[in-house]
Amino acid sequence: MKRSTSIYLALLALFLTSWVGLVLIPYVQAGRLSPDVDPDTKDQSPTAYSGLAEQGRQVYAANGCVYCHSQQVRSRAGGSDIDRGDGARRTVARDYVRDRAAYLGNSRMGPDLANVGVRHDKADWYYEHEYSPQSVSDGSNCPPMRFLFEKRKVVGQPSVEAVHVTGDDMPKPGEEVVPRHDAKALVAYLLSLKRSSYKLPEAPEEAAPE
Ligand code: HEC
Repeated sequence: MKRSTSIYLALLALFLTSWVGLVLIPYVQAGRLSPDVDPDTKDQSPTAYSGLAEQGRQVYAANGCVYCHSQQVRSRAGGSDIDRGDGARRTVARDYVRDRAAYLGNSRMGPDLANVGVRHDKADWYYEHEYSPQSVSDGSNCPPMRFLFEKRKVVGQPSVEAVHVTGDDMPKPGEEVVPRHDAKALVAYLLSLKRSSYKLPEAPEEAAPE
């Protein structure tokens, strides 16, 4: 065999084995995963996102939340996530079957958000945190997302949607802050992040060590 042919075959074998290992095997293992179905109620877990929450998922991606927030809870053996209150169980591949791209996160500058909807279940809390993180959490590094809101003069009655903001960012008398559509979508998405609120057979809740 000519030397160039053996180099060509070796390169081909290299790419082929990488493709099998990195694409084909993960595809066969995870690509066919489907939501877990309760045999009695026929309820599916995880449930599908509402239309608004699905739009919020895109707002989450577009604004780089993944650079500071993870959405993956490690098992007790893998870290202190469960003890810290990030979730009652570890997250597994099936938790992400509804996500076109899973936002596992690049770093953990902020808290893990896999179950943030369990910790905070009021939309008002998120609006205030998005508009002015420092007014909710002293010295917070979470960037304010003011462009998702409109600050305007109150005309007639104040809006029922007006965000409750305290501290230095409180609007002046006669002004109000109201969420734009993207803010509402983002909050619907964050409220839906409740991955330990349903059970999956492959990830039982882990009891605290004796
Ligand atoms: C520069 C890093 C950074 C980025 C980018 C960032 N955050 Fe944060 N975030 C933090 C930090 C630090 C905290 C903890 C302090 C606090 O509660 O405000 C936090 C806290 C939070 C909390 C409260 C979590 C809890 O358990 O109390 C939510 C919700 C949140 N961020 C949502 C977002 C969203 C949505 C985005 C994208 C629009 C985002 N963050 C982008 C750093 C970041």
